[in-house]
Amino acid sequence: MSKKRIFSGVQPSGDVHIGNYLGAIKNWVDLQDEFESIFCIVDLHAITVSQDPEELRRKTLEVAKVYLAAGIDPKKSTIYVQSQVSEHAELAWILNTITGMSELEKMTQFKDKSQKDGLESARVGLFDYPVLMAADILLYDTEVVPVGEDQMQHIELARTLARRFNKRFGDTFVVPKGHLKKETMRVMGLDDPAKKMSKSATSEMNYISLLDSPEIVEKKIKRAVTDSGSDITYSDDRPAIQNLINIYSSFSGKSPEEIVAEYEGKGFGEFKKGLTETVLEFIIPFQEKYSSLKDEEVIELLLENAKKVSSIAKNKMDEVKNKVGFLQ
Ligand code: AMP
Ligand code: TRP
Repeated sequence: MSKKRIFSGVQPSGDVHIGNYLGAIKNWVDLQDEFESIFCIVDLHAITVSQDPEELRRKTLEVAKVYLAAGIDPKKSTIYVQSQVSEHAELAWILNTITGMSELEKMTQFKDKSQKDGLESARVGLFDYPVLMAADILLYDTEVVPVGEDQMQHIELARTLARRFNKRFGDTFVVPKGHLKKETMRVMGLDDPAKKMSKSATSEMNYISLLDSPEIVEKKIKRAVTDSGSDITYSDDRPAIQNLINIYSSFSGKSPEEIVAEYEGKGFGEFKKGLTETVLEFIIPFQEKYSSLKDEEVIELLLENAKKVSSIAKNKMDEVKNKVGFLQ
């Protein structure tokens, strides 16, 4: 029996942080043996907010290298750049014609991002972002989409659009399912445990970038907000320490209970030292692998892979165009 397919992506904007890693990329690494895996660098999504062209090119390569250094094995999984496969934009256009304005107006991410700079300066592309994401997923008959919690609303739309298209034009798309890892589906900001860790955070103290130097990692953890009291306990009413324990737990493989037991009677200082060591145990070898990757080789791999997935995408588009009634 052939393997089920997973698809996911990260935008080449901002710094890839431990929230992206623990919420998404780490799960991809764990799932790549069990599934046929496609991981995209979604540059068409990145330009829904203004990007500097040179920086975008640099970040696109950076994210590809992050995937590889984090353990995505190019022999098992396909990594490629979204804009190199034109069918994404083509399918998004067709899905636009079966998507309601009101469905997009409800999207939390759009509301947040458009509020940030004022609704007047929000672009149509930002509004349409979830439809493009649905196109990414549906093009490849994706069954499972491993993401962080913030993307679940978009996946719900992809499910709705798949069903709606199938109903109207006949069975065409697989209805995909989201996949979350409960403990890390929402890694919170180090500077504010009420907000998620985010690439677009105003303060760099919000996140640990996978490419931060060990000294910076240490500094950021030292400065991370903690709750009142001095004990290391794990509960919802102590969100800052709970978040740090979740991070500790995901990097070390120890359960929150084990970590709490280990630090019984010890203070935040000691706990943060342990957390720093644990994060660095991942980050140092990760960065060594990252630096060893050669730009030209990665660029070539991406191009080859784009060709490979293009044939899947093109077949699906031929079917879609036929069903919609385009002359072929
Ligand atoms: P983005 O940074 O928007 O390109 O997100 C890439 C992936 O990381 C998506 O699957 C997100 O859901 C996930 N992600 C982003 N921020 C977090 C976070 N703070 N906690 C968990 N997952 C996250
Ligand atoms: N919107 C996702 C994010 O910002 C990235 C993304 C684009 C994606 N297309 C996708 C994730 C398809 C999963 C599947 O996190």
